[in-house]
Amino acid sequence: MSGNPFFPLDEISQDSNETQTMIIPNVDKAIYDHRRKMADTVVDYREMRMRYSCAIKEVRTKFDVLNSEFNVRYQRNPITSINSRLKSSSSIMDKLARKGLDFTVENVEDNLYDVAGIRVVCSYVDDIYLLAQALAKQDDITVIKEKDYIKNPKPNGYRSYHMIVSVPVFFSDQTKDMAVEVQIRTIAMDFWASLEHQLKYKQEIPNQQEIVDQLTACAEQIASIDKQMYQVRQQIELSEDLPTEEEILFEKLRRIDIATNE
Ligand code: GTP
Ligand code: MG
Repeated sequence: MSGNPFFPLDEISQDSNETQTMIIPNVDKAIYDHRRKMADTVVDYREMRMRYSCAIKEVRTKFDVLNSEFNVRYQRNPITSINSRLKSSSSIMDKLARKGLDFTVENVEDNLYDVAGIRVVCSYVDDIYLLAQALAKQDDITVIKEKDYIKNPKPNGYRSYHMIVSVPVFFSDQTKDMAVEVQIRTIAMDFWASLEHQLKYKQEIPNQQEIVDQLTACAEQIASIDKQMYQVRQQIELSEDLPTEEEILFEKLRRIDIATNE
C-alpha cells in the first residue's frame, strides 16, 4: 500500500472494496497498536524532557540558595548569572547516533549526561571552587564526574570547572535520579568561551589558524587577569579596618533587611 505510513488508517477507511472490508478488523488492531506505540513513545519522550527540566530547577535553586546565603553572610554575591538549557532533540539524536545508539528514552538516560545543563558565572576564580564544593557536599547530590579545565586548560585555552551531578527529583509516582551538567566559570572565561564557540559554526575561514592562535593567547591573558582581580580583591578585604561596635550593630540591622527582602 502506498501513502503516508504514519496514517494508514485514513487510506483504508477511504477504500470501500469488499476484500479490504473483510480484513479491516485485523488491520485495525495492528494499526491501533502501531499508533498507540507511537503515542506512548512521544509521551515518554515528553515526560523525559519534563524530568530533565525539573532537574535543572532543582540544581538552579541550590545555586540560588548559596548565592542568597553569601549575600547575607558576606555581603557579596559569588554568582553573577545562571543560565540553563535543555539539549535540543536534534542534538540528542546526533549525539546518540555518534555513539551508535538508537533514539530511545532509555539510551538518553543511560548514556547522555548533558541533556540538562546549567552554567554558573562568577566574578572570581575562588568562588568557582567554593560553589563546586558547596554543591558536591549536599546530601542529595552525587558527583558522577568532575573536570577541572581551570587547573588543566584545554589546548585551545578553554577554562571552566565541569561537573556531572545526579540529583533526585520527586514526582507524584516516583523519585528519579537525574543527571545535570554544571559548568562554573568566571565572567572572563565565559566571554572567551562564547567567542570561541562562534568558530565552531564557521566552515572555512581563510585565516583560521591565526584566529585560533589569537584566541589561545587571549585565554592566557584572561587567566592572568582573573588571578590579578582575585589578588586585588583579597588585598582590599585584608586592608579593611576592624569595625567599631556601632558599625557592627548597623551591619546586623542591614542584614536583617536583606534577609527579609530576599
Ligand atoms: P561533549 O563535548 O558534550 O560531548 O562532552 P565531553 O565529555 O567532551 O565534555 P566536555 O566537558 O569536554 O565539554 C562539555 C561542554 O563544555 C561542551 O558542550 C561545551 O559547552 C563546553 N566546552 C568544552 N570545551 C570547549 C571549548 O573548547 N570551547 C567552548 N567554547 N566550549 C567548550
Ligand atoms: Mg555537551
